Amino acid sequence: QDIPVLCIDGPTASGKGTLASEVAHRLGYHYLDSGALYRVTALAARRAGLDLVPANEAAIAGLARSLPVRFSQGHILLGGIDVSEAIRTEEAGMNASRVSTLPAVRTALLALQHGFRRLPGLVADGRDMGTVIFPAAPMKVYLTASAGQRAERRHKQLISKGIPATIDSLRQALEARDARDSSRPVAPLKPAADSLLLDNSSLSIEESVAQVLQWWDARQ
Ligand code: C5P
Repeated sequence: QDIPVLCIDGPTASGKGTLASEVAHRLGYHYLDSGALYRVTALAARRAGLDLVPANEAAIAGLARSLPVRFSQGHILLGGIDVSEAIRTEEAGMNASRVSTLPAVRTALLALQHGFRRLPGLVADGRDMGTVIFPAAPMKVYLTASAGQRAERRHKQLISKGIPATIDSLRQALEARDARDSSRPVAPLKPAADSLLLDNSSLSIEESVAQVLQWWDARQ
């Protein structure tokens, strides 16, 4: 049976998560936050005492293949323990970016990601949803925003949680992460050839959601 998938890819802090989860909610579809899987993998590896280096690729991929991860009501559990907050730090993002360059780790997470494609449909966000994981998806969106906008949004998020940060250092960190994600040989961050480009630098969340839903309706 044909189960529709809507892919939303884009760089760090472009608002993919907010957009994708809201679109999934409106459509009544499942939601895959693929970045969370890389974040959890990195956390599991660090907790197992593994440095996130190529020499440990096989060991980290082994952990990824049988990751005891569960998504429950917006929370992410690793081995039954809530790691929703632990995986959202800047360091966890950078660590995710490190493990995500290892091809065996990406392969190890394939089946888990494909398993999210269930009826009535899926909205998936990440870097390679449209290019590698769901290449036959009927709709792919590539979401961008200027680096300045993204740094400002991330800054607001952190400050609202009481986590100190400066816009400049956040901008540097996200540009470093974009550079690593875009330049890796395996599944680099890039728009799928058949993706629709959405620059949300000057759009509200609601405007972005409305645009994607309008495109989606136009496809049916
Ligand atoms: O989207 P998020 O910031 O949570 O992703 C964390 C990191 O995981 C990214 O910087 C990227 O290196 C990696 N990632 C990936 N492929 C995906 C999703 C995330 O390589 N599909």
